[in-house]
Amino acid sequence: MDIKDIRVAIDGPSGAGKSTIAKVVAKETGLAYVDTGAMYRTIGLYMIRAGIDAYDTEKIIAALPKINVTLEQIDGKPSMHLNGESVDDKIRTEEVSYYASAVSKIPEVRQFLLDLQRQLALKGGVIMDGRDIGTVIIPDAEVKIFMIANLEERARRRYLEQTEKGMDVKYEEILESMRARDEQDSNRETAPLKPAEDAVTLVNDRTIEETAGVIIDLINRCLERANS
Ligand code: DC
Repeated sequence: MDIKDIRVAIDGPSGAGKSTIAKVVAKETGLAYVDTGAMYRTIGLYMIRAGIDAYDTEKIIAALPKINVTLEQIDGKPSMHLNGESVDDKIRTEEVSYYASAVSKIPEVRQFLLDLQRQLALKGGVIMDGRDIGTVIIPDAEVKIFMIANLEERARRRYLEQTEKGMDVKYEEILESMRARDEQDSNRETAPLKPAEDAVTLVNDRTIEETAGVIIDLINRCLERANS
């Protein structure tokens, strides 16, 4: 077994630092990074533009056949596309976060993205983050991480991230909407956020390099075990 066969699943609540850490691990190991939250965000963006209410389940399901979500490579970097348009810089707003959490409750929406996500994991050599990667999308992943961090710390990170981008946001509002999304993502019926039984829980309270290092160690140990 080598790194091209490894599938790493990272699940956890919003703002735990999954994507930041996953990107560092991807860079240092050569794994391809796949952000499944971006796919739910892309569907959310479509609904906003179509003027569909975040909780109008019937209209959301009816709109799915009009949506094509793909992950393209632009200059060697993964880029989320909605019906052929790159949407990476349009899916990080609070409104899109709200919609993404709402649409991700709908089983038909999850089914709609399942094939794409499984296909991307199929060949191996990936690190994929989301809420149900270790439990539903890749239940036999070689390495499973459940990443957590306290709510205030997560909200603070998201606040800094957004103010650095020049967005006009309030810390208390981010904290409150994050709390609401955690609740919704953890309590929904289909594929709720929860650790897989065999996941390693990792508290993201160290530096980026240190937390990424823990995951890289787990990958190396898995490779050693498989090859010994
Ligand atoms: O990771 P994120 O914040 O970009 O995800 C946006 C929303 O998508 C989040 O509220 C939960 C949902 N999501 C999901 O239900 N399953 C996934 N695998 C990834 C994200």
